[in-house]
Amino acid sequence: MLKRPIIIDTDPGIDDAVAIAIALYSEELDVKLITTVAGNVGVDKVTNNALKLLKYFKKEVPVAMGAAAPLIRTPQDASNVHGVSGMEGFDFEEPTNDLLLDENAVNAMYKVIKDSATPITLVPIGPLTNIALLLKIYPEVKNNIQDIVLMGGSASRGNMGVMSEFNIHVDPEAAKIVFDSGLPIVMAGLDVGWKALVLPEDSAQLENMNDVGKMIHSLFKRYRGGSMKTGLKMYDSCAIAYLLKPEMFETTDTHVDIELNGSMTAGTTIVDLKGYLGKPNNAKVCLDIDQQLFRQWLLDSLRKCN
Ligand code: RIB
Ligand code: CA
Repeated sequence: MLKRPIIIDTDPGIDDAVAIAIALYSEELDVKLITTVAGNVGVDKVTNNALKLLKYFKKEVPVAMGAAAPLIRTPQDASNVHGVSGMEGFDFEEPTNDLLLDENAVNAMYKVIKDSATPITLVPIGPLTNIALLLKIYPEVKNNIQDIVLMGGSASRGNMGVMSEFNIHVDPEAAKIVFDSGLPIVMAGLDVGWKALVLPEDSAQLENMNDVGKMIHSLFKRYRGGSMKTGLKMYDSCAIAYLLKPEMFETTDTHVDIELNGSMTAGTTIVDLKGYLGKPNNAKVCLDIDQQLFRQWLLDSLRKCN
């Protein structure tokens, strides 16, 4: 079976690490490139974390460093959730830079997309700064982008602002460029991220699963996206889960716009479920997920990462 070619744009990030692991070991996905963006922590750290993961998993995927800051706004991070390094909890070996490309993320994405015989799926699981820059600098790439399956946004409330989700909150202008691009978009936001939980019994299974499970369990002890006791939120794995098991999700096609001007609401994804704005649908929004199926899928997928 032909693997689906994807580019993961990421800010690892403990939940990013889980999503990346699952993608790297999936028999259905061909990870052509990993690009990094400032988000959970600074771009140098998230790039080093991506390289650490590839060294740990012994996977030779090229990495390209991207934007160090949002298009306009001051950087904000989530080191309180992921630790100062962005991936606290496990002592990874320091990577070499063999896999780190000289060129920046935007140019690297452009080349992979331009040269691909099959249209590429972009999987952004961090702020959308790199994707926005790509679409602005090289608009012709749209002809060879299959779709964008992203973790971000919320049809309900926020986790960084009252109404804004972190990835969109950090760079609303970038998100606006992406959602206005006309490309097919799947938005896996907090409505599913909040339900995509690793429950205590799952963490216990992970710890006793294999070396990878032990490593992830160690990260989870530091991860503050929920808690071991109440459940750990696997936000970014929702984007990978949609690629591999879309039937786990309840979705609706609707119009999504991004609030840029609200002093308290900038970064809010305005998910127009009732069509009040009278604008054409531009995204498939994930509104619900089968939590039991997700939990089983996550454990089964991580069992393969060894
Ligand atoms: O809101 C969740 C998103 O913010 C995820 O991508 C997670 O990695 C955090 O950065
Ligand atoms: Ca992320």
